Amino acid sequence: MASPSKAIIATLLLLAIALPDCQAKSRPSFSGKLAIHHAIGRQAHHIELPKHHRPKFHPGPWKNAHATFYEGGSGTFGGACNYKDVAGQGYGMNTAALSSVLFQNGQACGACFEIKCANSPQWCKLGQPSLKVTATDHCPPNPSLPNDNGGWCNVPLEHFDIAKPVFSQLAEYKAGIIPIQYRRIPCEKQGGIRFTITGNPWFYQVIVWNVGGAGDVIGVQVKGDDKLKWTQMERDWGSTWKTSAILVGESLSFRVRASDNRSSTSWHVTPKNWQFGQTFEGKNFK
Ligand SMILES: *[C@@H]1O[C@H](CO)[C@@H](O)[C@H](O)[C@H]1NC(C)=O
Repeated sequence: MASPSKAIIATLLLLAIALPDCQAKSRPSFSGKLAIHHAIGRQAHHIELPKHHRPKFHPGPWKNAHATFYEGGSGTFGGACNYKDVAGQGYGMNTAALSSVLFQNGQACGACFEIKCANSPQWCKLGQPSLKVTATDHCPPNPSLPNDNGGWCNVPLEHFDIAKPVFSQLAEYKAGIIPIQYRRIPCEKQGGIRFTITGNPWFYQVIVWNVGGAGDVIGVQVKGDDKLKWTQMERDWGSTWKTSAILVGESLSFRVRASDNRSSTSWHVTPKNWQFGQTFEGKNFK
């Protein structure tokens, strides 16, 4: 029974002798400092890379606006965002036409909103349900009508025009126009961002749709696998981007920047022999 305690004492003695040396060793040596600098340098480098560290899109603050409804629903084709067949493209009927200040010349195309009926006990449906809509169209101003009587989408009003069946989830449609509260929310889309190539060999257009996360696109770049370097596209209108750079005959990659400054790169989403009118699926924002 004596030997284990002797061993412990011996160990303690050894530690006492070794300790000054340990402390000396724990001071950073020249190479240790270098390693620390290197680590900090790498970290800083990572912070600069937006796609790794920029957080996911989060809901924005609630704001006040008004909403009306339009007749019909699933027959919504085209519109100012140029989403061809919004129901077929997975947007369903939960789409909205936005007044000019919200639409921002098409920059809002694809943004998602949560909307709830506000301050109309006589019209709001019980339990204050909320609904989620994607911006797919522009509600044009009607300057011949006053802002408070028909000119709902005039500047500077914040207004949503939504399909009647969807509106009626919020309020009695007899109300006609209701005060609402709305906020930006992340878009939940199935699958990847879609790229539909239209135009002709002298003028290329790419419709960018089914964008998750922030949902609204502020920049698109295209790259080929041969001659074409990364090239900034310009917004043509709505969700349609254009370039006169030659895309034909190259396997294309696209980089999409959303309004929260996050980027998503879809590498080689087309074959070299892609055709006008075809749609390709890339990577999405989470
Ligand atoms: C995005 O980046 C631009 C320029 O770098 C900056 O002005 C803008 O505030 C940024 N927006 C967001 C939402 O981070």
